[in-house]
Parts: sequence; C-alpha cells; structure tokens
Amino acid sequence: MKMNDDIFEKYRDAGRLAAKILAQGAKEIRIGGSYRELVESVEGRVIDEGAGLAFPLNLSLNEDAAHDTASADDERVFAKSDVAKLDLGIEIDGYIADTATTVDLGNNSLLVDASKAALEAAIKAVRPGVTAGELGAAVQFEIESRGYRPIANLTGHGLARYVQHGPPTIPNVAISGGGVLEEGMVFAIEPFATTGSGHVGERARVEIFSQIAQKPVRIPSARAILEKIRDRKGLPFARRWLGEKKMDMAIPGLIRGQVLHAYPVLSEIPGSLVSQHEQTLIVTEDGCIVTTR
Ligand code: CO
Repeated sequence: MKMNDDIFEKYRDAGRLAAKILAQGAKEIRIGGSYRELVESVEGRVIDEGAGLAFPLNLSLNEDAAHDTASADDERVFAKSDVAKLDLGIEIDGYIADTATTVDLGNNSLLVDASKAALEAAIKAVRPGVTAGELGAAVQFEIESRGYRPIANLTGHGLARYVQHGPPTIPNVAISGGGVLEEGMVFAIEPFATTGSGHVGERARVEIFSQIAQKPVRIPSARAILEKIRDRKGLPFARRWLGEKKMDMAIPGLIRGQVLHAYPVLSEIPGSLVSQHEQTLIVTEDGCIVTTR
C-alpha cells in the first residue's frame, strides 16, 4: 500500500466509526420523528466518540438530493413515503470518511437498490489504471438498467487531509477519460438514482457554508462567525451551529465578500424521488479497501 501506516489507520478508524454511526442514525429514522433531533443525535455521537465532523450531517428528503440539514428551529418531521438521504462526513486528525445511505419510509426499495447496486458495481471496478469515466459508466449502467436515471451533475470526489472535495472527480455517468486511478488515492463514490430528470438545481434554502478566504472583516457579528468557525480549517459548517440568531444575519455579507461559500440545497424536479449511497475507499495494488464498512 502506497500510504504511510499512521495515515492509513486514521482513514480506517474514521471509516469504521462513520459506518457505525451512519447505521445507528438510519435506524433512528421513523415516521413522526423530528429532523432536528435526528441530526443532533448523529452529530452528537461523532463528537462523543472523539472524532470531528468533516461537514454537517446532510439530511435531504425526497426530490432534494443533497446539502440540506436541520436548521436550529426546524419543525419538520419524517412522513410516510419519505425517501431520506443521510450523508455523514467525519474526520480524525483531518483524515475523512464520507458515507451515505437512504432510508425508505414508503415503497421505494427498487429506487434505493439502484444507487446501492451502482455503488457496488463501481467499487468492483476500482483498481490502478482504471479511469474515473469507467466508474461513471458502471454507475450509469446499473441505474439505467433498473429504469431510473443517474444524477449527472453530482459526483464522487477525492479526499485529502482537511479537504473534503478534491480530485479525482468520480462521475455518475459515462464520460470519456477522466482521472486515471492510482494506488494510494482516497476518494468517495456516491451514485444518486432518481425518478426525475437526472439533473439537480439549486434551491433558495441554504443551511451549509464554508470559509474560502481569510479577509479582515469589521462588522462584529461577521467577526463573531469567523471566530466561531476558525477551528473548522475550511471544512463546512451549519447555520444551526452558530447558535445566536443575530450572527446568522452577517452570512449574506460574508458570501458577497467571498469569505464564505454557500452550499444551497440541490434538488431534482418537484415530486420526483432521489436515492443515494456512498462509500470512501483507498486504491490498492489490485483493487481497493472500502474504509467506511
Ligand atoms: Co461525498
């Protein structure tokens, strides 16, 4: 394995912990349950275990594919027939495990199976020399052969220390070429299957942000936000984590000033459904090790 043993162990520990906590979180989802309680319970468990959150727990429902999470005053509850995606990122000393699953509260097991099978097919294809485009082809084939569409403008991504979205990009559709996989690469594969169009757009709702620049800011509430998120080292944070309502008001200015980046909720067409599965893996000499199981 072309990776320092200490680093490998940290990826592996983060992966095992993420797998355990994601499974517990998925089991806690029930009709009538509160989004906010679920999200706080999962995030709290990560902290209690002594790990860090690589990003806020994403909880995205039905046609929403990604980047939603509970707000501080969220009153939403799980309803019958909901398709809930939980996407968890944890880090140990900056080494990230990124994993996601879908909980079906209705009769959508075929849709759920589609993203799961696509992920397994892509993992089987991983070895040095294979291109990211070939993984995308495997994802697309599994999803389309089940009568659904892969979401073309969402992708898997490379991981590095304190970097949750780096190269290589792992597409969910066949593309020609793409990055060539090498031993020691760490990345997440995350197929999304949908009954919708195969493309997501941005909603007005934004709950997740990250700091992208260090600039002097004068407004006290803006300064307070940057102070509060300083230990994130650029990793994303939730509006919910800021606590005070007043702080929140400084966010738009920080986005305009290009200090913060916003992650709007990414959504398929209204009334459609989206499923997602994700694992993190490390490329080995002849295949890969999935860290998140
Ligand atoms: Co991911």
